[in-house]
Amino acid sequence: MTDSLPTLAVLGGTGAEGSGLAFRWAYAGYPVIVGSRTAEKAQAGAAELNALLGKDLVRGMDNLSAATAAQIVILTVPYSAQKSTISDVAKVLEGKILVDVTVPLVPPKVNRVTLPAEGSAVEAVQKMLGAGVKVVSAFQNVSAHHLKDLAHTVECDVLVTGDDIASREIVITLANAVGLRGIHAGPLCNSVVAEALTSVLITINQRYKIPGAGIRITGLPEQS
Ligand SMILES: NC(=O)c1ccc[n+]([C@@H]2O[C@H](COP(=O)([O-])OP(=O)(O)OC[C@H]3O[C@@H](n4cnc5c(N)ncnc54)[C@H](OP(=O)(O)O)[C@@H]3O)[C@@H](O)[C@H]2O)c1
Repeated sequence: MTDSLPTLAVLGGTGAEGSGLAFRWAYAGYPVIVGSRTAEKAQAGAAELNALLGKDLVRGMDNLSAATAAQIVILTVPYSAQKSTISDVAKVLEGKILVDVTVPLVPPKVNRVTLPAEGSAVEAVQKMLGAGVKVVSAFQNVSAHHLKDLAHTVECDVLVTGDDIASREIVITLANAVGLRGIHAGPLCNSVVAEALTSVLITINQRYKIPGAGIRITGLPEQS
C-alpha cells in the first residue's frame, strides 16, 4: 500500500512544525524525506523521527535533493527564509505540488497579524514559481506542540486553499491521513485568512496559557 502513496519532502523538516508533520505522515505510511540546508542535519532529523517511530521510515537529504526525489514538497521554514528556500529548489518543482505552511510572522510581535504587500505569503511563492507548479496553502493553524505525541488528538481543522482544485483535494487527503480534517477553503488568495489566523491563535495561547489552540469549522456533514 505504501508503494501507491506519493513521496513527501518536508523542507525545513528539522524544525518544530515540519518534523511534527513528517513524523505523522511517516506513521501514516507515506514515504517521507526530511529536508534541510545541510544533508547532515537532515539525516540527524530523520534519525530522531525514526527513533520515535521505532522503524527506519524517514530519510534525510539536503533541501534540493529532497525536493527532487519527492512528488509533493512541503515548505516549513520561517517566513524570513521562505523565498530563499523556494529559489534554491524552484528548478525541480515543475509539475509538482508545493504545500506552503508559511505564516508571515514578524518577530518579536508574532501575536500581531502582519501581512505582506502581495496579500498573503503564499501568493508571492505562486508568482515566483509560475503556473507549472501547483501551490497549495495549508496547516498554518496546526500547532507543532502535540504533533509528535500520537496519543494526542490534534483538534484543528486545516483550511486548504489553492487555485487547482485537484491539488487541493490531494492536500486534504494528506491532512486527513494524520487525523486532521482538511477543508476546501477556496482559491490561493483566501490563504490570507489562515495565515492571519495564526497570530490570533498565538494570542489565545498566551492569554489562556495553553500550547496549541486550534480551529474548528462547524456545520459540515460528518464526512466532508
Ligand atoms: N511551530 C508551529 O507551531 C507552527 C504552526 C503552524 C505554522 N508554522 C509555520 O511553519 C513554518 C516553520 O515553523 P517552525 O516553527 O517549524 O520553524 P523553525 O523550527 O524555526 O524552522 C524550521 C526550519 O527552517 C529552517 N530555517 C531556519 N532558518 C532558516 C533560514 N534563515 N534560511 C533557511 N532555512 C531556515 C531550519 O532548517 P535547517 O537548518 O535544517 O535548514 C529550521 O529547522 C513557519 O513559517 C511557521 O510560521 C509553525
